[in-house]
Amino acid sequence: MNRIVMWSFVRGLTNNSRRFGSVAGLGGGGGGGGSLRVTLTAMASPGTRYQSVANEGFHWRRMMSSSMAVAEEQGMKNVENQGKEKEKEKEKEKEKEKEKENALVSSYWGIYRPRITREDGSEWPWNCFMPWDTYSANLSIDLGKHHEPKCFLDKFAYRVVKLLRIPTDLFFQRRYGCRAVMLETVAAVPGMVAGMLLHLKSLRKFQHSGGWIKALLEEAENERMHLMTMIELVQPKWYERLLVITVQGVFFNAFFVLYLTSPKLAHRIVGYLEEEAIHSYTEYLKDINEGKIENVPAPAIAIDYWRLPKDARLKDVITVIRADEGHHRDVNHFASDIHFQGKELRESAAPLGYH
Ligand SMILES: [Fe+2]
Ligand SMILES: [Fe+2]
Repeated sequence: MNRIVMWSFVRGLTNNSRRFGSVAGLGGGGGGGGSLRVTLTAMASPGTRYQSVANEGFHWRRMMSSSMAVAEEQGMKNVENQGKEKEKEKEKEKEKEKEKENALVSSYWGIYRPRITREDGSEWPWNCFMPWDTYSANLSIDLGKHHEPKCFLDKFAYRVVKLLRIPTDLFFQRRYGCRAVMLETVAAVPGMVAGMLLHLKSLRKFQHSGGWIKALLEEAENERMHLMTMIELVQPKWYERLLVITVQGVFFNAFFVLYLTSPKLAHRIVGYLEEEAIHSYTEYLKDINEGKIENVPAPAIAIDYWRLPKDARLKDVITVIRADEGHHRDVNHFASDIHFQGKELRESAAPLGYH
């Protein structure tokens, strides 16, 4: 009896699996229900087992047509998921291999940079700055502030800066892109020189710096990022590059000596230079607004550094750079004021978050 039942069951399945060969492979919930129904029918009328199984197979097939569709869909989803998982595994393996390659390339010591991503999960493309170095510029800063020169040193600093502006105006005129490149190559020097000298002083005198070393080095870094941004927009000509090299050679040494001699004058000169930078970028913006300079899309580096929207334009970039210059102006006039009061910078804590 059991053998007959089993035989009917197997024949029924064989017939059906010939027509619906994918059922066994699918193994979904619908298939399982169908098998159970065939078995019960065969057991109820063993005398007509072949016909019964065949008929039942027909009904089963009809009933299964809908469950088949569901099972096929589920099967497709399973296959898709499996495919995705395999892809993920492959990606992970690739990353591991990359890390190993980097470790080998970097150095004998196996030093390598871990994968860094943006907030949206995409790969961080920059080595020159990291996501934690980025910020939103403070656009509420008062751009019209001016330190009125009263004493001799202030007036001297003011005149020096005004004199320096004459050759710059003659050379660049209204080519604000090239002018900005030149300006930033100079502007990134004082923070580095001042930070370096304060660092050495801190070591020499066993004194804390009051946060000024970091603040000034950050200013230099911020100015360098201005330059890295501008260089994406303007390609200087060979003679402009030559001028940059010459000016850097002269300015670095001159500022180094000046800072050793009179840090209060040095900071005041930088304060006035920053006021000029604000003026230059304001003129730059005016030309963009008037259509004299094309308001091109913002460089990718600027979008990431200042956390700008993806559709940001040149105008947005110049606006945030100008806000930074406003900060530099305030920090340097503040530093000069501390010296004018007969104090050292470390006696008054450096401002935080000023780029
Ligand atoms: Fe700058
Ligand atoms: Fe600046």
